[in-house]
Amino acid sequence: SPSDPDLVERARAAKEKLGDKVFVLGHHYQRDEVIQFADVTGDSFKLARDAAAKPEAEYIVFCGVHFMAESADILTSDDQKVVLPDLAAGCSMADMATAEQVAECWDVLTEAGIAEQVVPVSYMNSSADIKAFTGKHGGTICTSSNAKKALDWAFEQGEKVLFLPDQHLGRNTAVRDMGMSLDDCVVYNPHKPNGGLTAEQLRDAKMILWRGHCSVHGRFSLESVEDVRARIPGVNVLVHPECKHEVVAAADYVGSTEYIIKALEAAPAGSKWAIGTELNLVRRLANRFAAEDKEIVFLDKTVCFCSTMNRIDLPHLVWTLESLAEGKLVNQIRVDEETESFAKLALERMLALP
Ligand code: 13P
Ligand code: SF4
Repeated sequence: SPSDPDLVERARAAKEKLGDKVFVLGHHYQRDEVIQFADVTGDSFKLARDAAAKPEAEYIVFCGVHFMAESADILTSDDQKVVLPDLAAGCSMADMATAEQVAECWDVLTEAGIAEQVVPVSYMNSSADIKAFTGKHGGTICTSSNAKKALDWAFEQGEKVLFLPDQHLGRNTAVRDMGMSLDDCVVYNPHKPNGGLTAEQLRDAKMILWRGHCSVHGRFSLESVEDVRARIPGVNVLVHPECKHEVVAAADYVGSTEYIIKALEAAPAGSKWAIGTELNLVRRLANRFAAEDKEIVFLDKTVCFCSTMNRIDLPHLVWTLESLAEGKLVNQIRVDEETESFAKLALERMLALP
């Protein structure tokens, strides 16, 4: 959508007034009208690191979703304030694992006699509570760009992994990158007694996958991969690892948003690409690389934007920056001290991965 010139000018003026006091982070799935004001853009991993690398900024404005802002608060100093321009920008995947459900799951694992062998690995896309649970039980956080390293580390600490909350990233990493079989994985359904699993199934499994998924990436289908291959001969299919296993298995390349961008930067002129990730990013890449004669299409035209990423729009950003410029702190995201200390442990384990 074209940006309203008046709002663009207001955002620019407020940002200029704030100067070094503000640092704006933008996830790759953000709208163009927002991304133009980001001091840095990145995938979840890069943004977590970059947030921690700006100790002089009083305000970190996080153009992304709630769990990213929480992680930034955990990783920044106490006097830095992390601000989310719209508090309704959550993530449906992160909401699929609550602290109560995960505590109950741990009881189930304990009763099956395996809790001591299990290392939790939680995807960045989870609440601070889940990250704290992970830290408390000796586990680590991962993102889509370091999931294999996180699993390698976890299997050095224990025999089994409880992977939260994205079953697809967990399964894709285990099978595609670690050589496990689909039979090594079981799915724990928090809405069923004992997760819908017998103690024997739990004892036999190497990967216990939480039954969560991304409502955007979960909609790409094997048919969309077959269709695009029939329609565009020679096309390279590149998808995010939050896609279903059958989609990832049929794709040519798989990786995080940052990986996708790098792959397209390195692609030769004349090459053709079908991308399975969020639409704001795919459109931006299609426009950017059209000039270099790289043809980029969206893998499945029926898949929509991430509605919560899209909640951060230019009006919300203008309101946020103008409020901060007037000395009014709005929409601060704060994680309580106890949660923060354990969540930080888990995040720091991730940052220390080789
Ligand atoms: P990455 O940017 O780490 O690939 O994450 C994708 C995502 O879904 C974030 O919500
Ligand atoms: Fe959550 Fe999926 Fe949206 Fe990422 S794209 S914020 S995982 S719903």
